[in-house]
Amino acid sequence: MSDGSPARGPAAGESRAVASDQAAPHPRLGSVLARHRARPSERPWPAHAAAALAPLAERLGSEPRPLVLDSGCGTAESTAWLATRHPDALVVGIDQSAHRLARAAAMPANAMTLRARAEDVWRLARERGWPVAAHYLLYPNPWPKQRHLMRRWHAHPAMADLVAFGGALELRTNWRIYAEEFAHALTWWCAVPAGVGRWAPRCAVSAFERKYLASGQRLYRVTATLPAPRRRHDEPGGRAQGSSARPWAISVCSISVLLKPIRTSSRMWIAGTTLSGRRAKRARPSALVSTSYSQ
Ligand SMILES: C[S@@+](CC[C@H](N)C(=O)[O-])C[C@H]1O[C@@H](n2cnc3c(N)ncnc32)[C@H](O)[C@@H]1O
Repeated sequence: MSDGSPARGPAAGESRAVASDQAAPHPRLGSVLARHRARPSERPWPAHAAAALAPLAERLGSEPRPLVLDSGCGTAESTAWLATRHPDALVVGIDQSAHRLARAAAMPANAMTLRARAEDVWRLARERGWPVAAHYLLYPNPWPKQRHLMRRWHAHPAMADLVAFGGALELRTNWRIYAEEFAHALTWWCAVPAGVGRWAPRCAVSAFERKYLASGQRLYRVTATLPAPRRRHDEPGGRAQGSSARPWAISVCSISVLLKPIRTSSRMWIAGTTLSGRRAKRARPSALVSTSYSQ
């Protein structure tokens, strides 16, 4: 997924806030999510994936550790920073841009960069049952035009893999609507609460964060703890499965997501979830633009 942003990277102070023809979460997000769950992607592995992912598989083979993913790491400043925060993990900065990765500094001993498509890494992590302790998505391209909904991570078929391997998840963005949509998708897939909050770091951990701070933009952060993957009983020692791969796992519940933004004194909005009834039903597209809805 090309991100459409200039390859030369950001310069401090010259960035403008996201402009969009969308004033609220996309009305079609609910139906897109339902479609992905009903028809999981059966895309064959692309020919280039094996070579791209081999360095990670090899490193994990020789040095088994929990993984911390920094998806869309750009110049990997955040990857180096995460390595200091997660000294016991292998921190992997993933980016598809050779140009950006070429500008990365030397990585600490417990970190590496990987030129690959993030969605391929997520899929492999899920299929191999790799232990993902934490996953960061820092300032993914917002794709702010309504017609580009499907390019946003939360509307991408790869979201089914992203939610399946569990761990702590953190997304940062300079577009509030992206944060709200992403939080909604997390709650929809995993029935976990996902908080959307204003994010005002004292110092930047990535090139885009620095650019946005320098130009005074508002930043937002989504955090959630995803359920640990489960192993299928009928596949001994086999592929680890998350709730997304087992739609029946939540069919005992009807999910009623109340995406009612509650602004608390700590400036947090919470996407709350209640579970009741017998079957999960489809989200109504209008759900995202109203303050509450039933599914
Ligand atoms: C807006 S930049 C943010 C970079 C970095 N996280 C930061 O905060 O400075 C988005 C990055 O995501 C990368 N990207 C976009 N789609 C990707 C994909 N499918 N797989 C891997 N990287 C991707 C782009 O190459 C780009 O470096």
